[in-house]
Amino acid sequence: MAMWGGRFDAAPTELVAKMGESVSYDHRLYAHDIRGSIAHAKMLAKQGIITADDAHQIEHGLLGIKSQIDAGAFTFDERLEDIHMNIEARLTENIGSAGAKLHSARSRNDQIATDSRLYLRDELDTIKRLVRGLQIELIKIAREHTDTILPGFTHLQHAQPIVLGHYMLAYTEMFDRDHSRLEDCQKRFNYLPLGSGALAGSTLPIDREFVCKELEFLGCCRNSMDATADRDYMIELLSSLSIIMMHLSRMSEDLVFWMSQEAGWIELGDAFCTGSSLMPQKKNPDMCELTRGKTGRVYGDLMALLSIMKSLPLCYNRDMQEDKEPVFDAVDTVKLVLSVYAPMIASMKVNKDRMYEAASDPALMATDLAEWLVKNNVPFRSAHHRVGALVGYCKKAGKRLDEVTLEEMQACVPEANEECLALWKPESSVALRESFGGTAPNQVRTQIAYWMEQDFVK
Ligand code: ARG
Repeated sequence: MAMWGGRFDAAPTELVAKMGESVSYDHRLYAHDIRGSIAHAKMLAKQGIITADDAHQIEHGLLGIKSQIDAGAFTFDERLEDIHMNIEARLTENIGSAGAKLHSARSRNDQIATDSRLYLRDELDTIKRLVRGLQIELIKIAREHTDTILPGFTHLQHAQPIVLGHYMLAYTEMFDRDHSRLEDCQKRFNYLPLGSGALAGSTLPIDREFVCKELEFLGCCRNSMDATADRDYMIELLSSLSIIMMHLSRMSEDLVFWMSQEAGWIELGDAFCTGSSLMPQKKNPDMCELTRGKTGRVYGDLMALLSIMKSLPLCYNRDMQEDKEPVFDAVDTVKLVLSVYAPMIASMKVNKDRMYEAASDPALMATDLAEWLVKNNVPFRSAHHRVGALVGYCKKAGKRLDEVTLEEMQACVPEANEECLALWKPESSVALRESFGGTAPNQVRTQIAYWMEQDFVK
């Protein structure tokens, strides 16, 4: 008979048990479940709800079960549904009546809400560390490449020259916001649900503050219905993880292109690429592509949980058991991808000459001529128009902008003088972009100095 068997005449059929079980995946919560149960038992004893001896037996029994699970020597029983029941049943089997007292003043509803918060708190620490690790690699590349010039794109069309360090620091910024989103989310859910019971609290004289301190939460959830009914913290986490994946996916897209034969700007280390089963010459940036692919998967996890939670009446509903697989999947995916990404980035070889060559088309410096005209009192709109006409002339004449004579230039841009003929070098172009946050190597060095001051880099 199941634990709730008192009012039932028939046990669940095999298929019902199969549909209802979650232990096949929620067993990963065991350490957090046991930690929560020990704190709960200590509190029950302190409050005189169970004896000190009961609490001692419970703690000892639970630690024994934990070592067994740690060692892979525990057999989970799917007929007991979930991790909570598996542990409690075994405890009672092992220590008898003391074990049967553990669930006083507790429901699986406040228990699972507590376990998942404890678990996610730890996982978020790991993911935050991995994000920092990736940022550190990006900053390293930025330091080596403050003067490495490549084309910057908009619409995947050559736009203006940039330096590679600037690009790497753009992602450093994005991952920094990702890190702070994780921290934020962690702060918001770091409150204790336990003691909320099934939905309405307990008639027993519990001390939630005590459990809160034992489990190192910031405080107790103020409302027992909220505490047992919501999964917004998981949704927030999944959306933060989706944003991390979106950033990684965009970067991957660039790396795939940079490593194409058309660009030939970088080569990722052999250990991070794969070959073709057919074409002997191939070296493919599969980890970048898989990162893009897995992004869709994490978005799916977010959509799954949003859809599960939509329209659920307050408070707990069994639908919510379906929260775990998407959350676990997203956490595992992001940890894996970040763990591969940082060393993959570190393995990147840069072909500066190819990058420079691609950025050397003087068309990328057309804006510089327009801005030179602005400095010489031509209104920007007219300047833009005149340089546009010059570009059009070059196209028809089959010339590059740096091949026109001053006279040809003046036909379109009457204000032009010799100075304008020196605007076509990408290195002078980037050097001129000295506005705060611009791509001038000096500005990039200022950004690097900022990052070098941050605790996670120091
Ligand atoms: N395994 C359940 C879940 O993950 C635990 C809570 C079960 N509560 C209940 N009333 N059946 O949601």
